[in-house]
Amino acid sequence: MKDRIAHLHEKQEKALLGGGQDRIDSQHAKGKMTARERLHFLLDEGSFEEIGMFVTHRSNEFGLEKQKFLGDGVITGYGTVHGRTVYVFAQDFTVFGGSLAEMHAEKICRIMDLAMENGAPVIGLNDSGGARIQEGVVSLGGYADIFYRNTLASGVIPQLSAIMGPCAGGAVYSPALTDFVLMVQDSSYMFVTGPNVVKTVTHEEVTSEELGGASTHSTKSGVTHFSSANDLQCIEHLKKLLSYMPQNCEEEAPVINYTPADESRAALDSIIPDNPNQPYDIKEVIETVCDAGSFLEVHKDFAENIVVGFARLGGRSIGIVANQPAMLAGVLDIKASQKGGRFVRFCDCFNIPLLVFEDVPGFLPGTDQEWNGIITNGAKLLFAFCEATVPRITVITRKAYGGAYDVMNSKHIGADMNYAWPTAEIAVMGAKGAAEIIFRNEIKSAPDPEAKLKEKEAEYVRHFANPFRAAEKGYVDEVILPSQTREKLIRAFGMLKNKARTLPRKKHGNIPL
Ligand code: HXC
Repeated sequence: MKDRIAHLHEKQEKALLGGGQDRIDSQHAKGKMTARERLHFLLDEGSFEEIGMFVTHRSNEFGLEKQKFLGDGVITGYGTVHGRTVYVFAQDFTVFGGSLAEMHAEKICRIMDLAMENGAPVIGLNDSGGARIQEGVVSLGGYADIFYRNTLASGVIPQLSAIMGPCAGGAVYSPALTDFVLMVQDSSYMFVTGPNVVKTVTHEEVTSEELGGASTHSTKSGVTHFSSANDLQCIEHLKKLLSYMPQNCEEEAPVINYTPADESRAALDSIIPDNPNQPYDIKEVIETVCDAGSFLEVHKDFAENIVVGFARLGGRSIGIVANQPAMLAGVLDIKASQKGGRFVRFCDCFNIPLLVFEDVPGFLPGTDQEWNGIITNGAKLLFAFCEATVPRITVITRKAYGGAYDVMNSKHIGADMNYAWPTAEIAVMGAKGAAEIIFRNEIKSAPDPEAKLKEKEAEYVRHFANPFRAAEKGYVDEVILPSQTREKLIRAFGMLKNKARTLPRKKHGNIPL
């Protein structure tokens, strides 16, 4: 018996060492944690239960038969984060560069199947040289097995991917299929084809960091939602992100204890500048309205003309979508529509109510936008809102112009409540443009056309640049003081708590991809 126990300890110790101390040191020298260290910081102390610690590969080619490592380059199992179960896999770069092969993939699939059957999130910590070259097509098959599961799990359980090292070739598609992608600056990169192939094919000279580093993907492509300074910060982001989500699509997000207090926020009454063309920061509005310190911005550096993120209101999780007047006047363009649409879909999948702050002059004009498909892409955001059945409230702070009025969670497309501040302007377009079109002849024939234009502009403003025409029609439920916003929203979301709306029976909709 003693011998057997000693043998077990010996094997466990070997497994804990992964590819060996040299390789662990090399990982540290690159400023990276090992897979086990990452799991240690991610999961509640003592909660990790490993599955498949002694699994090894079954390949006999290219000398692999002489090289076997316990665990086959990926640590899999389950544990808790803030007391809630999560399923995890962490690729171990010290073993065959974390490369994915038959058994490595099988371990990840097992975790994903368990997560689906038991309704809990899957978190993947990716650090891998890609398909294990020696195992050939078996490695490719392993990826496809994971992609298939990622897709079937989408909308059932939250899936989070942290990229903490290389992630290249087809390997990028598993994270891309998950709900959130987090990257670590300077030590992680993602691309379909690396710098060498890029140079051969397009003659472009580009570094890995420029091509697919955290900064590139958080600002240019939008592939990553969070860019972190190091492994530890990335893990903190993962934990915080999880705290806003339910375990699966049948559950509600956790509620934080909240004691009602004075909910009025006087600062909001002076936040909108007198000049309608002057910007202000919508994040100040969000932070003032939501529970203190609860706003977690998603996609912070991408398409900054729209702000999305999680927050809490009276202790309950909400998803926020807000036009940002401080960036491009808050206009909707292709990237903003993609960013907003994807976030709305996530919240709707997981029963997270949506709050929209609207100050939008319309869609961005121009050949660049039209030729690159603002029609199809703008329709993504529209489709996402139309289809969302979670409680949905809009607060129009200033401009709600043109098609963007419809798209930004109007009541016509299923929002439950629309509030407007007295500064709201709800109209087909801005006053100057409108006056130029509808009073063209009158202005042209006037002795002083410029003065006439001003007069007509003012007439238009009186008629439409206010929230009351929309309120008369019931398109806006109430015109409220900005300082009352928080209280109104807490009450309204409380009123909508048990909302049950279903979509027509169908296989699935056909979102304009
Ligand atoms: C087998 C691999 C490997 C791989 C790395 N290793 N990638 N073994 N298959 N894909 C091994 C190395 O041989 C080395 O072993 C150890 O891991 C560490 O790698 P290093 O090269 O020393 O590390 P580093 O200098 O940090 O470079 C990391 C790297 C590089 C940039 C990832 O290893 C690399 O370019 N690897 C190949 C990447 C690649 O082409 N993968 C296939 C992509 S295509 P030793 O024993 O020497 O320490 C793909 C298709 C997926 O993935 C399709 C899905 C549909």
